Amino acid sequence: AVDMRSFYRDSGMFSYDPGFTSTASCRSEITFIDGEKGELRYRGIPIEELATGHSYLEVCHLLLEGKLPTEEELTALDLELRHRAFLPESLVKLFETMPDNAHPMSTLSAGATALSAFYYEHLKLESDEDYREMAHRIIAKMPTLAAFAYRHSLGATYIYPDIDRSFTENFLYMLRAYPGGKLHRDPSGPREIKPIEVQALDTIFTLHADHEQNASTTVVRSVASTGAHPYVAIASGIAALWGRAHGGANESVIEQLRMIGSVENVDKFIARAKDPKDPFRLMGFGHRVYKNFDPRARILKTLQDQLVEELDLDTELMRIARRIEEIALSDEYFIKRKLYPNIDFYSGIILTALGLPRSMFTPVFVIGRTVGWVAQWIEFRKSPEAKIARPRQLYIGK
Ligand code: ACO
Repeated sequence: AVDMRSFYRDSGMFSYDPGFTSTASCRSEITFIDGEKGELRYRGIPIEELATGHSYLEVCHLLLEGKLPTEEELTALDLELRHRAFLPESLVKLFETMPDNAHPMSTLSAGATALSAFYYEHLKLESDEDYREMAHRIIAKMPTLAAFAYRHSLGATYIYPDIDRSFTENFLYMLRAYPGGKLHRDPSGPREIKPIEVQALDTIFTLHADHEQNASTTVVRSVASTGAHPYVAIASGIAALWGRAHGGANESVIEQLRMIGSVENVDKFIARAKDPKDPFRLMGFGHRVYKNFDPRARILKTLQDQLVEELDLDTELMRIARRIEEIALSDEYFIKRKLYPNIDFYSGIILTALGLPRSMFTPVFVIGRTVGWVAQWIEFRKSPEAKIARPRQLYIGK
């Protein structure tokens, strides 16, 4: 038999840290979080400043290039992303192989993987220009992949990107339009894309753009560490994001609010969340790093309040959400564990008002986060400290 005590004694020192709660896997210059204070910065700039004073494309430039763009750089990026938004036509056939009721996240991750076949040359990147082209291509195509995935799930004809529309507006257009470019009608007439909707979605993309070494980004870096194709690494990030404990929480929050059904039922569900024998968790609450209000949640809460007048926000869902927030923020169970609302607690109500179905909430997260994954991938690849991700284990078997 192997003497495990002497094996570990002789193996040198390593830490046992399930969930990597206190292990840094890399050094990074991209995003800073102070979880105790509830602070988030991209490249040193506070998220509050970016979300209110800059567009998502400016944030993309900031994350990729380390600085906000000049007016000319922004115009160039905008134009490039518009032109790169189209998918290779034979990739579109991939969607046809999926069942009609496929969740858009399955189709989206398959689509991202398939891009590695069409742009195989990105396996060998040499110059900064090569890195840039790879990054811009996937950022530009992600909204198209997501919109096609959604339309396939409806059995509706695909709407190709419209070169005359901006990155964010184009996504709403590809979801809402019918062949010939006419917009979806509701009883009151065509559902025009309002500037305030574009602005709200743009802010949501900014708030999701990066979040240092979360589960999906850790996966992207791990796949990068093996030398695999960048788009496969992004596809792995999409897969990791899908789970309810991570990006999938935004879909679960709305499901849960609907399940709670009315303000009168909130107490009952709070009691369930506090019961150690009940696996029920309050979706949209808690965070591994934030032990204070998630700053992104604070921004979305303000945005939600501003949109009530302008958009058709589901006020009953908002009432339930507010009641949960009120109770949880004053309840000892939540205070003791430092459980605050996170970004997913608020995004769903806004996305519902934009006409997005629940199944598209996590794809929206993917669109916003793609730039962060790519920036982290590039940083990893350029780092002289890059090593294959290969944690150890404590063997407890026979
Ligand atoms: N509802 C009720 N209790 C909770 C919740 C919750 N949402 N989250 C954590 N707790 C409790 C746990 O039961 C545990 O209690 P205990 O100490 O009595 O055992 C304690 O708080 C610590 O919880 P952990 O699971 O150890 O915390 P961890 O840091 O591992 O998990 C996570 C963080 C996954 C986000 C968790 O809070 C959770 O499941 N939240 C709900 C899902 C969610 O909103 N996810 C989105 C995260 S943000 C993002 O990815 C964009």
